[in-house]
Amino acid sequence: MDLNEKLIRERHSVRNYLDKKIEKEKIDILNNLISNINKKEDLNIQLIVDDKDVFDKFILSYGRLKGCSNYIALIGKSSKSLEEKLGYNGEKIVLKAQELGLKTCWVGGTYKKSIVKAHIADDETMVCIIAIGYGETNGRDRKSKTIDEVVISKEYPDWFKKGVEFALLAPTAINQQKFKFEYLGDSKVKTHIGFGHLTKVDIGIVKYHFELGANKKIEWI
Ligand SMILES: Cc1cc2nc3c(=O)[nH]c(=O)nc-3n(C[C@H](O)[C@H](O)[C@H](O)COP(=O)(O)O)c2cc1C
Repeated sequence: MDLNEKLIRERHSVRNYLDKKIEKEKIDILNNLISNINKKEDLNIQLIVDDKDVFDKFILSYGRLKGCSNYIALIGKSSKSLEEKLGYNGEKIVLKAQELGLKTCWVGGTYKKSIVKAHIADDETMVCIIAIGYGETNGRDRKSKTIDEVVISKEYPDWFKKGVEFALLAPTAINQQKFKFEYLGDSKVKTHIGFGHLTKVDIGIVKYHFELGANKKIEWI
């Protein structure tokens, strides 16, 4: 198993965090990656540390982020493709965090958006945040759709199958997995996005996983 596969298989959403600061060296590595992504993709992603207040203590059921003091604010210039772009690039940061021994959880709803300590320009939008820190646990496996449920084509190459396998291990909002893949020959793959909340962010995340699984340049249609 290569490193990416290991990181993808071991990553789970973690909602309970330890009261332990992220070391400066790890913050530097994350900030370096974020700054490279921001430059290359014209985004404004920001890592905020030591700010507990954005995670609502009054949520008692699903979505409570307990003990978390750090998050990554996913921000960029408002456009039609922003959500997918932040999904794709945010998941790069999530897998780097996993490599550094940190745990994460994408958070689209269960946080106080108005008090996030990030700089958001007038022409920018914050799509969601990612909680990050040392986890109380490593998280756990969850239910997943099967390959047949998310593939439209009857025949496809092995790399496509591996791409779908990795895509099914990707985080999606409320584990909705509302995506389908269609093989169109050569390196062409078409995605079909279902209707629902944050599905465009999901598709960006899922495409990044697919590419790591397929281990080749995909021509997305
Ligand atoms: C775009 C997005 C938004 C999410 N929003 C929340 C949220 O508001 N609260 C929460 O607890 N989990 C949230 N999650 C985490 C999902 O519930 C989780 O990824 C899914 O159940 C699959 O589990 P896994 O990440 O362990 O594979 C979100 C995930 C994504 C991708």
